[in-house]
Amino acid sequence: MRPWILCSLVCLVACDCEGSSSDTPAPPVERPGIDPLPEVEVNMDKVFLGRRLFHDPLLSGDGSVSCATCHSLDHGGAESRATSEGIGGQVGPINSPTVLNAHFNFRQFWDGRAEDLAEQAAGPIENPMEMGGSFEDVPRNVAEDEWYATRFTSIYGEEDAVTKEHIIDAIAEYERYLITPSPFDRYARGDESALNEQQQRGYALFRETGCTTCHQGVNAGGTMYQKMGVVENYFELRGGELTDADMGRFNVTGDEANRHFFKVPTLRNITLTPPYFHDGSQESLEESVRIMARVQLGKTLEDAQIADIVAFLGSLTGELPEHARLPEADAIPERVRTGEPVVEHPAATGDGDEEVLEPSPDEEG
Ligand code: HEC
Ligand code: HEC
Repeated sequence: MRPWILCSLVCLVACDCEGSSSDTPAPPVERPGIDPLPEVEVNMDKVFLGRRLFHDPLLSGDGSVSCATCHSLDHGGAESRATSEGIGGQVGPINSPTVLNAHFNFRQFWDGRAEDLAEQAAGPIENPMEMGGSFEDVPRNVAEDEWYATRFTSIYGEEDAVTKEHIIDAIAEYERYLITPSPFDRYARGDESALNEQQQRGYALFRETGCTTCHQGVNAGGTMYQKMGVVENYFELRGGELTDADMGRFNVTGDEANRHFFKVPTLRNITLTPPYFHDGSQESLEESVRIMARVQLGKTLEDAQIADIVAFLGSLTGELPEHARLPEADAIPERVRTGEPVVEHPAATGDGDEEVLEPSPDEEG
């Protein structure tokens, strides 16, 4: 008998006696899963342009902060601080999510206030707490740099090549390129050997426990908003004062029903991006998984189960695409700022004293 006939027979038998014999594998339970990454087409000229812009502090008000400051490729596209530090050493209110695979999130930001990467990218450049730049100065400064001037013109044409829209377009294109295929993707496409036994156990447990009711789809997240603390009050468990950032989506809609709702974050590259949660309160991935099971699902996981889930989560850690990193040849030059004097920020001169500062009026411009 030819192998394919054998196979179809076996399959038929298996289907016929579903659940009736202990030898046949249990029928798959309908639970949402995690999908493999699709391919994304990008314009590589824009990617190379956006890559340099992403790493360039020229986009910030005082030339000290770039996107990469808070979204480091050496830290899974996020940062190691609990909450971001912007220009002048100002400590922001919330942890920076990863830019890797962010393209697949249905909205951007923890509270979903930006629709897509392009809408998102304008935010940090002008945010006085983050980069404190302005779109009156940034395009002019960028156009003064030979490297940029030539490339903007060749990609966007002679007239008005360096504009806010084009800067953002190039950065967003670079971010769309930052997609990280992982062992899990090979597994999801049918290569069972891509995950070891513990990781496979972990994935099964991840689904059975109910994690995929929220962490599902291509990004193992990024498809919906959910309350932080569905069955138990997370904020009481965490302790400390409630901050504005803790209000989540409520800040956007003003709707009481959205209080403490956040975009379910991606779990891709999660092993690389501690600390965890919007408040950056958890250094340990094990502890974060324990908290999730408890406050979202009312379940207590044993240490061995947590270890399995964490092993599985490790299989979502992927490889950066070949040209993700800025090569030596495109290195950002040391620039001497000749224009406006750099604004002195009190916190910048302190020895790492982290203090939340209100943006002062003289930081604009
Ligand atoms: C000072 C630190 C800082 C800088 C600089 C910064 N970001 Fe962010 N970024 C953050 C923080 C914090 C958040 C989350 C803010 C929120 O959700 O309210 C964020 C969110 C994002 C997101 C949303 C990801 C998601 O899953 O929701 C993207 C994309 C992003 N930043 C890209 C950029 C780009 C592009 C730049 C440069 C133009 C940049 N960031 C500069 C700190 C920073
Ligand atoms: C009811 C929806 C829901 C369920 C179920 C759920 N999560 Fe989450 N998860 C979230 C939300 C929302 C956040 C963001 C919360 C925050 O930062 O305040 C999150 C955050 C996380 C984080 C931290 C991500 C980061 O970037 O900081 C991890 C890790 C995580 N979840 C793992 C799990 C695991 C493992 C399970 C199953 C045991 C699980 N989650 C179940 C909604 C859910």
